[in-house]
Amino acid sequence: LPLTLGCLVFGYLLGSVPFGLILTRMAGLGDVRKIGSGNIGATNVLRTGNKKLAVATLLLDAFKGTAAAAIAASVFGIEAGIASGFAAFLGHLYPVWLGFKGGKGIATYIGVLLGLAPLIVLVFAAVWLVMAKLSRYSSLSALVATLVVPVVLLASGYGKIGLLFVVMSVITWIKHRANIQRLLAGTEGRIGEKG
Ligand code: G3P
Repeated sequence: LPLTLGCLVFGYLLGSVPFGLILTRMAGLGDVRKIGSGNIGATNVLRTGNKKLAVATLLLDAFKGTAAAAIAASVFGIEAGIASGFAAFLGHLYPVWLGFKGGKGIATYIGVLLGLAPLIVLVFAAVWLVMAKLSRYSSLSALVATLVVPVVLLASGYGKIGLLFVVMSVITWIKHRANIQRLLAGTEGRIGEKG
């Protein structure tokens, strides 16, 4: 139990670092929560018009999930990696530093996937890219990818990791409910569109 608790705290602290907010502030772009969707993730950082910062946000928000999952898994085994990766995902979504109002979790989801089942990141990327090409919606592309990933994981024999991603996908969908409403209403912003 102390080990699990340690992994949860370690993962949460890593995951709760809001890179999108930090980078846009450091770049003098103001508060990213006041533009576009109000989210702190890479998609909304792109709405500042700064592509490099958006890519950096994507990579850093992903990296904290990878680090949390991979470090705990390599030191203490796969279950520790699952606990720590899940905690990093929750830390990104519910950071204590921002009054528990964090991001929507896609980059960190990909990062945890990279740490626990790296090959399946290719599945996520392929689905996301095809959907983004077709729709230009970041949210829709991510939502479809998070539907496919747990199915592929479970079908490929990633038992516990598959279950983790079922849970993470459900949480992702809940966090995207405003996006889902906008998609249904036809008012969702397209990739790179300011708003
Ligand atoms: O998956 C992308 C999602 O995070 C959408 O972000 O800023 O369009 O709500 P945003």
